[in-house]
Formats: sequence, C-alpha cells, structure tokens
Amino acid sequence: MWPILDSQEPMPIIAATWSLATGGCQGAIAPLIAGGSALDAVCAVARATERDPTVDSVGLGGLPDATGHVTLDACVMVSPAKCGAVCAVAKHLDVTDLARMVMERTRHVMLAGKGADDFARALGMRESNLLAPAARAAWERWRTGGETPPSHDTVGVLAIDSAGVMAGACSTSGMAYKLAGRVGDSPIPGHGLYVDPEVGGAVATGNGELVMGVCGTFLAVELMRRGSTPQEAVREVLERIERTYSPEPHQQVGVIVLSRDGRIGSGALRGGFEVVVADEQGVRLTPAAMVTHPDTPEVKR
Ligand code: GLY
Repeated sequence: MWPILDSQEPMPIIAATWSLATGGCQGAIAPLIAGGSALDAVCAVARATERDPTVDSVGLGGLPDATGHVTLDACVMVSPAKCGAVCAVAKHLDVTDLARMVMERTRHVMLAGKGADDFARALGMRESNLLAPAARAAWERWRTGGETPPSHDTVGVLAIDSAGVMAGACSTSGMAYKLAGRVGDSPIPGHGLYVDPEVGGAVATGNGELVMGVCGTFLAVELMRRGSTPQEAVREVLERIERTYSPEPHQQVGVIVLSRDGRIGSGALRGGFEVVVADEQGVRLTPAAMVTHPDTPEVKR
C-alpha cells in the first residue's frame, strides 16, 4: 500500500454511475470513511443495486433476454493482476460478490454461464429466480410488439479507501431483450471497468457494443498514464467512440474516471447521465461534466 500523495492523507471517496447507485453509496460511505476497504465498498454498492427489484438493468428486476431469461454479468478489479468476473449467470443474484470470489478463490479471471452458477452453488450461495414480475410483464409486452426496448445501463463503481487503495466493480443484466448468449462490456476488464493503482480507474455504462471495440476504460486509464487529466481522458474516450461508431441518437455511453489522487472526470454521449459522488461531505448526484451531443434527446433511466 502507498499513500496517494506524499504530503496528503488519502480521502475516502466513491464515484458511481446513475442515480440507481445512490442508496448503495449512502450505505457504503460511512464504513469506508471509518477505515473499510475500497473493495468492500464497491461490492456493497453493487450488491445493494443488484438486490433492488426496482432497478430494471442490474440484478433482480433486470430485463431478460429475448427468450425471457435474465442473465447477469459483473466484475471487480483492484489491479491488472487482481481482478475477477462472471458472465451469463442465470441462477444467482449477488454476482459482484461472486466475481470477487473468482478473484480471491480461483486461479482464473472469469467464469461464464453454468460454470459460474455451479461455482456459486459450491460456495453455498443461494439460488434466486432473477425474473421479477414487472420484468416478465415488460418482456411479454415487448414480445407481443407493444413495447420498444428501453435503453439500458449498468452500476459501475470506483472507490478509494483511507489506505489509498482503489477498487472498482461493475454489474449489469445487460441489454434488454438481447440475443440469448450476448455479453457486453461490463464483466470484461478494460471494457466496462479498469483499475490500475499506478494511475487510477474508469467505469463505463450504456451500450456495451460501443465500448468494447475501443477498450473504453483501459483507454481512459492509459490516457491518464500518459498525462491526461481525468476529464481529458473521458473526452478522448467519447471522441474515440464517436469516430469509431457514429452512434445513433438513442445510443448512450457514460464514462467516469477517478485518478489515484481522487480527481473525477465524467461524461456521456447524451444528456441524462448522472454521477453519484460520496465522501466526507455526503452523497450527491450530479450531471456528467460533459456531453458530446447536448442537442439530442436525453438518454437516461
Ligand atoms: N453496459 C452494459 C452492457 O452493454 O451490457
């Protein structure tokens, strides 16, 4: 462990995507300030969101794939040498905790599908029916042509603890009504989440297909390694996405970057993306610091 700055004590902080992370941040910030670990904090925020049935894009209540099955993806990361992930989990809810177990108890980085569910069962995790009644009803309406697929999002969380250690977590049920088997950016280190303690971390949310081809969070951290500020890194990642994909007006990507010394950058392709920040001053929800297309309709939950 190392101090963030030689002359300054690390200030515990959490930064997370969307208002859906607010309750989790409210629960996680006091233990973090009291000396808890960043890894415990990010897992607590993700777990709270996964267990909230009113959130239709993460955990219980997440919208299903085209065949009506909910599958969950998650990862945690402390450094390039210390990360864990699960994807296409169909029977267990606490997928961020499961990703942490992959990191801490196996020699692997990612477990997928049945193997991930088997691992959860072997750990003694309780099986859950992930398809909540409201999500099932929405899927029925979509299947019968009465509902357009909504945009989707992800809970992405970065935290620094009082020892100066950074950790990140990312959890999602993925794109609503996706093709069965589709996995997006969230569980893949360097795509939905990247943390390098020498530099900082980044999380991405929104349409994973627009993040994966540019390794969006890895790119953000590498830009900071080469001297960009967190906000400059966010801007360049969004510009790279813009140049690469020419996103359609309904497509959203949001990015949060946290430097190892606690500076935050944030931005999104469209208005509507919000960032939750929690520290000794409290928990607050703020709009992203930059928007690539302020002229197009907001894309938010
Ligand atoms: N960003 C979440 C997903 O595309 O699955």
